[in-house]
Amino acid sequence: MCGIVGYIGNEQAAPVLIDGLSRLEYRGYDSAGVAVFNGQRLEVVKSKGKLAVLSDMIHGGADIKGTVGIGHTRWATHGAPSDTNAHPHLSTSERFAVIHNGIIENYMELKNKLISRGVSFVSDTDTEVIAQMVEYYYNGDIFDTMVKVLNRVEGSYALGVIDRDNPDEIVAVRKDSPLIIGVAENGYFIASDVPAILNRTREVYYPDEKEIIFLHRDGVTIYNFDHEAVEKELVHIDWDADAAEKGGYEHFMIKEIMEQPKAIADTIESRIKDGRVRLDDIELTAQQISDIDKIYIVACGSAYHVGMVGKYVLERLVKKTVDVDLASEFRYRSPLVTDKTLVIVISQSGETADTRAAMAEAKKLGARTLAVVNVLGSSIAKAADDVIYTWAGPEIAVATTKAYSCQLAVLYLLGIYMAQETGLLSAEEEIEMLRELLSLPGKIQSILDKRDDIQYYASLHYNEKNIFFIGRNLDYAVSLEGSLKLKEISYIHSEAYAAGELKHGTISLIEDGTLVVAVATQDRLFDKTMSNVVEVISRGATTLGVSKETRSDIRNTCDFAFLVPETDDLFMPSLSVIPLQLFGYYVASMKGCDIDKPRNLAKSVTVE
Ligand code: G6P
Repeated sequence: MCGIVGYIGNEQAAPVLIDGLSRLEYRGYDSAGVAVFNGQRLEVVKSKGKLAVLSDMIHGGADIKGTVGIGHTRWATHGAPSDTNAHPHLSTSERFAVIHNGIIENYMELKNKLISRGVSFVSDTDTEVIAQMVEYYYNGDIFDTMVKVLNRVEGSYALGVIDRDNPDEIVAVRKDSPLIIGVAENGYFIASDVPAILNRTREVYYPDEKEIIFLHRDGVTIYNFDHEAVEKELVHIDWDADAAEKGGYEHFMIKEIMEQPKAIADTIESRIKDGRVRLDDIELTAQQISDIDKIYIVACGSAYHVGMVGKYVLERLVKKTVDVDLASEFRYRSPLVTDKTLVIVISQSGETADTRAAMAEAKKLGARTLAVVNVLGSSIAKAADDVIYTWAGPEIAVATTKAYSCQLAVLYLLGIYMAQETGLLSAEEEIEMLRELLSLPGKIQSILDKRDDIQYYASLHYNEKNIFFIGRNLDYAVSLEGSLKLKEISYIHSEAYAAGELKHGTISLIEDGTLVVAVATQDRLFDKTMSNVVEVISRGATTLGVSKETRSDIRNTCDFAFLVPETDDLFMPSLSVIPLQLFGYYVASMKGCDIDKPRNLAKSVTVE
């Protein structure tokens, strides 16, 4: 969702801001703007639509001269996407400019109060309230003023503020919304996320909630609300130089699909030593694991689909009841959580509003929380009792692929670890499982090497109106992800069904030629799923089967089959999801869709 960039330094700010914003486009947005101090005033240029429109208006930034500025990509919440509602917002006298990511929940009350005192507003946004409040409460000291404003504000925010009359400074603060500080040779940055500034610096501070940050040309100072200076550790980001670039691929999505063998190897290899799983990052003792009464897995979107796989994995390995819940449901449904409950939250960004709130609710009810997160220093990572990071590197495409796969890998590790610590696995069983787990990157690579087969199949089906996915147990969990991948980027209507459930309704939608993708990798369920395939074939369906090399007999039933290498059935989701990701990608590519930035979607959903 909204993206923030701010810069102060020796370079011209506007081109730097446009460049940084372009690297945040993946977050999803519908308008963009910049404000730069041009020596006399805060020059603000904003536009509805793509960043390219704004960039053209100011010739990539060359038209605005000045070395301090703030920029923003807006994903509309309060007020329609429009030039006026785009950020930055100015106070009435045009002294203060503000960019904001988050939601000011009590903005109406604050706005009405200011209106009753004679302040007038030009936009429909909650953010303009901040700009007007900073001006209204300004008492000559911006620190005091910010504290006064923020004490009146309820909600979430990452804010960047510049003052025309003190233009050698950017003021920033965050609460429940992401914000990082970049330290570069030629200046200092604020940004929503590391990829925005990765081409300029790898040295980053992660400010905590309610710390007020002052960026000057010669340094950064951070204070808490009591005006005490706060020391921060400078974190070095060691992602590959091209991690946030397309590196010759047409889209980030296919680049990220192709990066999966490395991402999974990075995620698992350092955590397997001498035939055992070592999760040095967490403090979950054998006793605590034994005491767990119940496990909840809570997440949104694809991370929820990982949770669906996780349920089967943990129930099978750890022998505990596992419930999987959508974060937006969990937080409002009085879950039966005790101090013996383990709540696992999964989130690529570590910022998803519902997942954060669900975790906070679980903590309030006394649960132990364990987060599986990709973004270092993100809010969920900071708030959880334990964190296991996925080492997927930056994921830019909105449709997740490599983060999904790394989350799966972490759940496998976690399942084996919990079983190992509580004596549920023999040494031989564990060694065998870990050997299989370590072989997954190579097997995924062999699937990727055969991607032309999927591309060919996609070329036959990119004009479909409806595509159904079916599978049982783990294959059903993977079907959910395959269906989501396809629909979110290709806009083809798609649904995933537990194969046995099909005849309780959905089968009435099968017509002559309807494409049904059947995922059938689980030996003990293979024949059952094939019976369901036969049921749809006899109603006219065309079928694609996804199974493993040892089940080439799937070709006796399905019109076309894609076979992945053999592995333990429990790990099959890591392999079977790959052809489904590729299928979604190639279908969307043939339809000419905006694959990395599908309409209406955002990478990081920071509003409820
Ligand atoms: C958005 C993204 C999805 C993602 C979901 C959860 O909807 O488009 O790809 O799965 O949010 O995001 P998270 O960062 O919590 O994993």
